[in-house]
Amino acid sequence: MTLRRARESDAVELARIHQAAFDHPWSEADFAAYVASDFLWVVGEPISGFLLIRCIADEAEILTLAVDPAARRNGFARALLAASKQELAAQGVARLFLEVAADNLPALALYQRHGFLPLGVRKDYYRRVNGPDMDAKLLSCALPAAH
Ligand SMILES: CC(C)(COP(=O)(O)OP(=O)(O)OC[C@H]1O[C@@H](n2cnc3c(N)ncnc32)[C@H](O)[C@@H]1OP(=O)(O)O)[C@@H](O)C(=O)NCCC(=O)NCCS
Repeated sequence: MTLRRARESDAVELARIHQAAFDHPWSEADFAAYVASDFLWVVGEPISGFLLIRCIADEAEILTLAVDPAARRNGFARALLAASKQELAAQGVARLFLEVAADNLPALALYQRHGFLPLGVRKDYYRRVNGPDMDAKLLSCALPAAH
């Protein structure tokens, strides 16, 4: 499985995968900017998924994670999370946070298997194009201390 940091030339593909996964798509320009400013990993050749993380001091937040619908349940998200957690821990990041829609059962199952624990709930956090607003669950995961 090919797993690497994203390049600016990946932005078209990243925007396509994001659009297939979420109600409010991000543009190619958004992704080109994230390549420059944050941690963005891609998996698969051609790209099947990506994970975007922002670090501030010794904390980090998952901004988004998506796998192409046709490529799901092949372990791509698991590989992205495992690699990123390892790299962040090596850089001294102590804790990883994220928000996930309360009805997103695949993502909740994924994060639970990766050691994320509930921190709280943001009421009606997500605006849905077709459907009622949805709560966000806040999760966090401790990363092992670097030696
Ligand atoms: C959530 C998402 C990223 C998972 O990607 P994926 O590559 O299919 O996930 P993996 O194959 O690595 O699955 C790893 C584990 O997650 C859990 N999981 C993933 N998809 C699941 C599903 N549809 N139902 C139940 N559990 C699921 C399982 O525990 C799975 O392990 P297993 O296959 O050994 O049972 C993908 O479904 C997706 O892109 N969804 C839309 C965008 C999204 O919701 N992103 C997260 C926002 S916070």
